[in-house]
Amino acid sequence: MKIVVIGGTGLIGSKTVAILRQGGHEVVAASPNSGVNTITGEGVKEAVAGAQVVIDLANSPSFEDKAVLKFFETAGRNLLAAEAAASVRHHVALSIVATDRTDNGYFRAKLAQEKLIEASGIPYTIIRATQFMEFLGGIADSSADENIVKLPPVLFQPIAADDVAAVVADVALAAPRNGKVEIAGPERAPFSEIVTRYLKAVGDARQVVSDPAARYWGGRVEERSLVPLGEARLGQIGLDEWLRRSLAKA
Ligand SMILES: NC(=O)c1ccc[n+]([C@@H]2O[C@H](COP(=O)([O-])OP(=O)(O)OC[C@H]3O[C@@H](n4cnc5c(N)ncnc54)[C@H](OP(=O)(O)O)[C@@H]3O)[C@@H](O)[C@H]2O)c1
Repeated sequence: MKIVVIGGTGLIGSKTVAILRQGGHEVVAASPNSGVNTITGEGVKEAVAGAQVVIDLANSPSFEDKAVLKFFETAGRNLLAAEAAASVRHHVALSIVATDRTDNGYFRAKLAQEKLIEASGIPYTIIRATQFMEFLGGIADSSADENIVKLPPVLFQPIAADDVAAVVADVALAAPRNGKVEIAGPERAPFSEIVTRYLKAVGDARQVVSDPAARYWGGRVEERSLVPLGEARLGQIGLDEWLRRSLAKA
């Protein structure tokens, strides 16, 4: 089976490509560096020709509100049009838990991506994941004011990229659900507690405080804004295990 992974060189993309190749599938790891650009359209038609499944794991180079919306809308339109012309049988995309419950520019852009997929007529599965553990350092940096990291008092349930990629590969090989699947890490805990554990483990002396006025990437969040509300598939790698593996690699 030919499977195209758009963003196949990224964090989740490269892990997903490796899993699918191990399973004996013909996998195209597509990205601008390999001549496939969903923004300009370059190489997209050629890449998806003859593919049964397309997995979109691309990400915007800029997270600025307008730029990210433009990225996911333009890329979504170009990619889905090429897939429709090539009669692709399953479009899989990775989105974020609570894109429709939380108000920030990045989540709005992911929601726009989801809407284009739902309206495309192509059989699809949207996977909504919680935040990746690999993203914890970026979250701390974006919430830091000098040596204080201010986080809203909400629950958090990050998932390891290895767990995300395993689910993406699994979903891509199953029948399209024409709906969404939610995935999250095995542990749910206060945001401040998880980021404190992360910073301590990596030897970062910054202090974490829980602040009701703090926002998440500019958006207001409530206690359960960032965690699945209903049934979710859980990853197997807990934060301590992920930290142990990451520090061993460093
Ligand atoms: N971060 C989180 O916590 C989180 C949570 C849930 C879902 N997600 C979603 O997960 C997805 C994957 O994220 P990631 O962290 O794995 O991304 P990443 O590591 O930043 O990789 C992004 C990939 O997109 C490719 N790309 C960039 N512009 C492109 C274009 N114009 N056309 C084709 N490909 C392009 C990049 O190619 P080059 O290598 O050539 O630049 C790279 O392969 C994203 O859609 C994100 O929204 C993220």
